[in-house]
Amino acid sequence: LGKNVVHKESTPSTQQIAHQLARDHASHGTVVIADEQTAGKGRLNREWHSAKNKGIWTSLILRPAILPYLAPQITLLTATVLADVFKKELNLDPKIKWPNDIMINDRKVAGILTEMQAEQDQIQYIIIGIGINVNQEMNELPEDIQQKATSLRATSEKEYDITSLIQRIFVHFEKVYAEYETYGFPIIKERWESYGYRLGERTTIKTMKETSEAVLVGIAEDGALLAQYDNDSIKKVYSGEIDWFPN
Ligand code: BTN
Repeated sequence: LGKNVVHKESTPSTQQIAHQLARDHASHGTVVIADEQTAGKGRLNREWHSAKNKGIWTSLILRPAILPYLAPQITLLTATVLADVFKKELNLDPKIKWPNDIMINDRKVAGILTEMQAEQDQIQYIIIGIGINVNQEMNELPEDIQQKATSLRATSEKEYDITSLIQRIFVHFEKVYAEYETYGFPIIKERWESYGYRLGERTTIKTMKETSEAVLVGIAEDGALLAQYDNDSIKKVYSGEIDWFPN
């Protein structure tokens, strides 16, 4: 992993570069890193603000030998890798908000965007896009997200060396990915749930179809959120957002 690294000073999006490379047969573990993105993208067609040298904007090409419907496991794995590094190496207190937001002090500090190319029952490749707000001051974050977002610096009043942080993340990623290949999803699930944001609490769940209230109980093998409703039925939620009550 990371033996093949492509670095761009400025690019619209590292996801685009990674897709091109993957179509041109780039190997498993190829990493694209940018100092700045001019059209960074987030989940649900949102934009992802990626100011020059202020954060980690990177995309990783993987070719996992799993069925396409299990691809969300890789996103959950990535979230645990980021949470581990923030906790164990930076002494912060991260939580993972389903499906893939890393939260510190109830604010989002990092996000993951996974895109897959699959044919029938085979994954051609997966692109894992990782965006981490690192050295922004609070007032350098876009105004429309200032209530909801933070950076590692804003939350800890420390500046971080971006290059060394990227290295630590990929070193840890490699280790966790190897564990996943050996032991499978259960260890990832357990770790993810140990970081789970509002797990065991009653929250609002918003999907395209409806807004409902349920207790978040965990995640399923296919990456779905397990939500327990008042009549004790447990439902799987595949896409949407979770919210919470302030009290
Ligand atoms: C989200 O939380 O909505 C996901 C954000 C993902 C952002 C990263 S930054 C590197 C890669 N390139 C992009 O354009 N997006 C991802």
